[in-house]
Amino acid sequence: MAPHEMKNILVTGGAGFIGSNFVRLVLERRPEARVVNLDLLTYAGNPENLAGLENTGRYEFVRGDICDGGLALELMQTRKIDTLINFAAESHVDRSILSGSDFVRTNTLGAQTLLEAASKAGQVRFVQVSTDEVYGSLGERGRFTEESPLAPNSPYSASKAAADLLCRAYGRTFGVPVIITRCSNNYGPFQFPEKLIPLMIIKALGGEKLPVYGDGMHVRDWIHVEDHCAGLLLAAERGIPGEAYNMGGEAETTNVVIVKSILKLLGKPETLISYVKDRPGHDRRYAIDSGKAKRELGFVPIKDFETGLRETVQWYLANERWWRRVMSREYMDYCERNYSGRLER
Ligand code: NAD
Ligand code: TYD
Repeated sequence: MAPHEMKNILVTGGAGFIGSNFVRLVLERRPEARVVNLDLLTYAGNPENLAGLENTGRYEFVRGDICDGGLALELMQTRKIDTLINFAAESHVDRSILSGSDFVRTNTLGAQTLLEAASKAGQVRFVQVSTDEVYGSLGERGRFTEESPLAPNSPYSASKAAADLLCRAYGRTFGVPVIITRCSNNYGPFQFPEKLIPLMIIKALGGEKLPVYGDGMHVRDWIHVEDHCAGLLLAAERGIPGEAYNMGGEAETTNVVIVKSILKLLGKPETLISYVKDRPGHDRRYAIDSGKAKRELGFVPIKDFETGLRETVQWYLANERWWRRVMSREYMDYCERNYSGRLER
């Protein structure tokens, strides 16, 4: 089948970590495409991530909420949108444990609102950027396939799984051409320093304690954000509506190994590691079978984790101004709430 041609793309949540990397990648690799970025600019969204792009004449930023169906429909109609890529979300598990309501609102109701608008607009290919976390947790063996049951364990993953089911329903009931991608943990430039890798880099730089949850033996399958974004481009152009595609980086690693690697790269001592109270409902292991995306889309993760981690550490060293600015008052309040009850064990 001929690939879907993307001319006018609506990206939601494009001022966040993965969305901003995707906007840059798509404008570079598809010189004919135009991008409208609809983003509410929560604590995680930063228009500076896309500084300079407005001058290209192919990029427009609109501040708004994906729960505003009228705005979404208006953008789809006036900008002649043919493809929507929904990144907009509350994305951090620990925040969802402190309070889940924003997660249900944005991740579930927001996705349903966009699906409704796409159904009214017609002709909009809808890519839902989901997560491997919807499958829950694995034991020591096995990998998630697209056939694995949805068994989310955190309010974050439950709100994303609910969105996946709504995508299925809007495809079946209203014929919206929806493609779901489920990717593993991303890392790379512009990641908000609440997630494991940037958090640990910044704490290590400051000589602070590095809070490792539980025994530190939880496993994630890390993928560089550019590999994920390249996979999303393939899914948008070559994916089959109604299908889901898993994507992973083939880099299963325990948290403590990552933390030790970061300390080594920065020349800091392992005595900075502090084992703290575990995250409630903490998923033990994620591992992805990306076979379907490889066979059907041509997906290939390129960056090996060792190189990617080294480059990421260098990026945070070179972009101190960026991370100091995003670590605002709100972020400091969150840290206080999340880490104050977790005394060293
Ligand atoms: P992020 O938190 O860095 O960015 C989220 C963006 O969404 C921000 O720019 C924020 O301002 C915006 N946003 C939040 N609520 C909004 C609303 N109501 N309306 C419009 N915009 C809103 O997240 P991320 O890490 O870039 O993740 C992007 C997507 O990828 C999410 O859907 C997430 O579930 C999914 N995902 C993330 C990972 C990962 O490792 N980070 C892995 C797999 C899938
Ligand atoms: P995180 O980056 O929050 O991603 P997710 O929970 O979506 O996988 O966390 C990655 C792993 O690192 C996870 O097993 C929890 C652990 N972790 C810590 O040990 N300490 C921390 O301070 C954070 C934020 C995460």
